[in-house]
Amino acid sequence: MKIGILGAGTMGSGIAQVAAQNEHETILVDVSQEALNKAEDDLNKILNRLVEKDRISSDDKINIQGRITYTTDMADFKGCSLVIEAIVEKLEVKHKVFSKMESIVSTECILASNTSSLSIASIGSALKNPDRILGIHFFNPAPLMPLVEIIPAVQTSEKTLKTAKNLIDSWGKSTVVCKDTPGFIVNRVARPFYGEALRIYEEGIADFATIDWAMTELGDFRMGPFTLMDYIGNDVNYAVTESVFAAFYYDPRFKPSFTQRRHSEAGYLGRKSGRGYFDYGEGAIQPEPNKDPILGQKILDRILAMLINEAFDAVFMQVASSEDIDKAMTKGVNYPKGLLVWADEIGLKKVFNQLETLFYEYGEDRYRPNPLLRRKVNS
Ligand SMILES: NC(=O)c1ccc[n+]([C@@H]2O[C@H](COP(=O)([O-])OP(=O)(O)OC[C@H]3O[C@@H](n4cnc5c(N)ncnc54)[C@H](O)[C@@H]3O)[C@@H](O)[C@H]2O)c1
Repeated sequence: MKIGILGAGTMGSGIAQVAAQNEHETILVDVSQEALNKAEDDLNKILNRLVEKDRISSDDKINIQGRITYTTDMADFKGCSLVIEAIVEKLEVKHKVFSKMESIVSTECILASNTSSLSIASIGSALKNPDRILGIHFFNPAPLMPLVEIIPAVQTSEKTLKTAKNLIDSWGKSTVVCKDTPGFIVNRVARPFYGEALRIYEEGIADFATIDWAMTELGDFRMGPFTLMDYIGNDVNYAVTESVFAAFYYDPRFKPSFTQRRHSEAGYLGRKSGRGYFDYGEGAIQPEPNKDPILGQKILDRILAMLINEAFDAVFMQVASSEDIDKAMTKGVNYPKGLLVWADEIGLKKVFNQLETLFYEYGEDRYRPNPLLRRKVNS
């Protein structure tokens, strides 16, 4: 089966590697020859490392490379059964390329977008035959992250959904199906991990190092929120928060933080700029956390309650099944446990009381307990 990938940047080149490793003839198209050359060089380096580590043989490497055609000509998508678009996040540009792709491929070809923030319905509106559109959302780096969110739009046919899901499952990925709503599962449910951590800091309850310590040491998260934001990039993380906030018609649950905005504005972007919430310069001394267990537990309980509330909201609003929501957070952002399973372990009443206390204390809609959580506690 021939697979097309449009866009040879961070995501497109990773997805092309996954397709080629799964024995597909793969066509990687980009407007920029430079981007194609870089993708080809990067893949060569990645595969060399895999050969060194004995994860693949030299023959495998040659075969994988031989399956990918690097081209600037979209006409080479002719004969593809699936094309995944991973170009700039601009709706007008996506409309143009989807409409062009439709004129090249057969009516049977599925056309997918890897978008993180645009609706699949809006992208599909450019097609004459929109029942073949859907979202196939990989996580970065695509070859390593197991999760793929599969997003049918209002226009998507059952056949398109089934065929695409079966194919991505056959690549060994963990797929979850979710509604075409802002942030899909992961980028929606994970918002409080950053937002509530920033709020706790802004209120002066604890500093960055202490909040990170509480989440990693007491909560078993792989990275604390501030270390993770520094890793993602404050500019990137802030942009996602802003777009989710706007897409939810400015629901205060998703309100962005001034602290993050100021860090972005100052150029404290994180690891990539040498400084974010922490200093990554040579010889920089890292601040010591306050390891007070009572304070740490308070921080963890508050952020976790907000995350659980968001997971409940995603179930309540039928974004995805409980199983898929838990799978998404463990496979897409490496949470130590699924949030809904975790809620049961803590006790729903305890989580609910924590949210009610915050809601009562602050009087802010941000802390309102989800109706499904309330119903379960009262049943
Ligand atoms: N970077 C991430 O962590 C991430 C994760 C999941 C999804 N996404 C989504 O994936 C998509 C791509 O993101 P990225 O980070 O790989 O971007 P990128 O900037 O690394 O790469 C985009 C590539 O698209 C090419 N391009 C631009 N316009 C084109 C056109 N008209 N035709 C062909 N090629 C064109 C560019 O030359 C560039 O090589 C976006 O929709 C983004 O929202 C990104």
